[in-house]
Amino acid sequence: MEYNHPVLIDKYDRHLNYLRISVTDRCNLRCIYCRPDGSLPKLRHDDILSYEEIYRLTEIAVGLGINKVRLTGGEPLVRKGITEFISRVSSLHGLRELSLTTNGIYLKDNLEKIRSAGIKRINISLDTLDREKYVKITGYDGFDLVWEGIELARQMGFHPIKINMVPIKGLNDDEIYEFARMTFKYPYHVRFIELMPLGAVKFDIRTNFLPNTLIKARISELGRLEPVSRSGFDGPAERFKYNGALGEIGFISPLTEHFCRICNRLRLTSEGHLRVCLLSDHEEDLKGPMRGGASDDDLRRIFLSAVSNKPKGHNLDSKESLLGQMSEIGG
Ligand code: 5AD
Ligand code: SF4
Repeated sequence: MEYNHPVLIDKYDRHLNYLRISVTDRCNLRCIYCRPDGSLPKLRHDDILSYEEIYRLTEIAVGLGINKVRLTGGEPLVRKGITEFISRVSSLHGLRELSLTTNGIYLKDNLEKIRSAGIKRINISLDTLDREKYVKITGYDGFDLVWEGIELARQMGFHPIKINMVPIKGLNDDEIYEFARMTFKYPYHVRFIELMPLGAVKFDIRTNFLPNTLIKARISELGRLEPVSRSGFDGPAERFKYNGALGEIGFISPLTEHFCRICNRLRLTSEGHLRVCLLSDHEEDLKGPMRGGASDDDLRRIFLSAVSNKPKGHNLDSKESLLGQMSEIGG
């Protein structure tokens, strides 16, 4: 059966056209809010989907109206063969946008390949501009590498380059001004992401959480934040720009803003589960049926049934915690 129109529509009339794929749960960093105990990856090689399997599911998803795909991890660039895989996905008919989220450590060395594989849009996770604090947050002395990667990406014409910053009370919240100021000088899109209660066992989200309303109020001291009009492809970020700035500021506020109403996302975990809501632990298994010989139609049915069960929203606040770990789910 051929699908060439959106078919992933849920009970609340949300059209799901965006698939985030975690290509690996492994990561070369140990960010404090993600893997605070420095735990090793839980999944064995056989547990995670092969590229062949991810490709098959992506092709099915695109056939069901997904036209925007983001590759995430863990850290996607640590998986062997990733750039060849990106090229394959990028030539999928019907896909309009392919992007990558990375921590930037291996960015510099891979930019040429990433570009020729067809990616223009990259998101880089960077929570501090201070070398020592970078070590404190990620467990690795990699700030210079990441920054060089960002600079080179800009020189090579990648656009947009989004910089994801998670403000954490007492740790890096003093740096929000510097991040905001960066947009005057560089065309980067700085996005402040609210700390989410995911998997961080030894890290107390409650005492470290900062609502984006507060971040916005603080950085408004630097100048008036003019709203940027939203495009159909926009995610949940609220976008702004300072007058005369080259870049933009975005706020992603999963906890305080409840943008569930406009959520257009699905997630494929590295383990081969379909997760219809980041902030709900419910997942549908695709890997098991696929390895058990399911046909494309069988798999399509799983997509459709998962989507029909997408919850209306979440009731989480910063006091609760979920079981899933960002490195497996893919952020
Ligand atoms: N809360 C908020 N953001 C998180 N990320 C990872 N774990 C969390 C969390 N608990 C972010 C990373 C990256 C993106 C993919 O998800 O910083 O920018
Ligand atoms: Fe940090 Fe992302 Fe790696 Fe988690 S997956 S440790 S947030 S870089």
